[in-house]
Amino acid sequence: MVYVTRNIPKAVEILQGFCDLTVHNKAKAPSKQEIIREIRDKDALLCVLSDKIDSEVIASAGNLKVISSYSVGYDHIDIDAATKHGIYVAYTPEVLTETTADLAFALMLTVARRVVEADRFVRRGKWKDVGLYDFMLGTDLHSKTLGIIGMGRIGSALARRANGFKMKVLYHNRNRLSIDKEREVNAEYKELDDLLKESDFVSIHVSLGKDTYHLMNEQKFRLMKSNAYLVNTSRGQVVDERALVKALRKKWIAGAALDVFEKEPIQKDNPLLRFDNVVLVPHIGSASRETRERMAEVAAINLLNVLKGKKPLYAVNPEVRKQ
Ligand code: DGY
Repeated sequence: MVYVTRNIPKAVEILQGFCDLTVHNKAKAPSKQEIIREIRDKDALLCVLSDKIDSEVIASAGNLKVISSYSVGYDHIDIDAATKHGIYVAYTPEVLTETTADLAFALMLTVARRVVEADRFVRRGKWKDVGLYDFMLGTDLHSKTLGIIGMGRIGSALARRANGFKMKVLYHNRNRLSIDKEREVNAEYKELDDLLKESDFVSIHVSLGKDTYHLMNEQKFRLMKSNAYLVNTSRGQVVDERALVKALRKKWIAGAALDVFEKEPIQKDNPLLRFDNVVLVPHIGSASRETRERMAEVAAINLLNVLKGKKPLYAVNPEVRKQ
């Protein structure tokens, strides 16, 4: 028996041929209590990144063998608790790499060339006389320096895009890449502080964990160039939003483009909403039709594999098998 927390058509289509499914079919997400109630007797759970699967939820599920998340991030799931209970946690990397890198690149271009501001200007009927020499001037992306924090799959895919724009690419990563890999992505390793001092665009691609929570804090923003932009498509909590707001107010940086926020959906009183030089999108990194379909397939196969006694295609805690 399987509980699916959203009606994800492709995943449901695959799963229903094999198992007894309960699908949460409402527009509003299920509450934590609903999830607890639903998974009490289930063998498997298919969830999304906004479902908080904490130790209390995990402890309430006596039969659960797998938590399959329709996401590459898994910070919404208590991995230690799942492992302790012998439950696989599965996720959907690789299939969304290029799509998320596309969005990070699009955000850089959008904020640098003021595309959203310009669009608002046209729609508000303000496009009358624009003969001024400094009308809507943005900044170039090509030939600038991009600093990538987190050179995993998505960071590397972004570096390849930046190479095409003749950007100089710097990167910082927990572990430095091999020389061959550095050559392949044409990127130079830097300590984080040096990367921040030298980059015109800084794009974050780390996963959220204890060591990356508020990685971008006030001290880090002070290191950035005053004409530099921050792009974040990873997790909101990697950036201390109060420090980001201060950096924008004090003009320590030129702007930001954000797909993720400390609190999602963004709160109405979030001061970030008031800056023209900030582009805000609602956590759509992997949101292309093609990619979401592939993610649904992988999430369903991950789950079915475990129910068939096999390993998921992508397990966060493969050590569960040995328990
Ligand atoms: C994920 O799947 O974790 C991403 O945040 C989607 O954009």
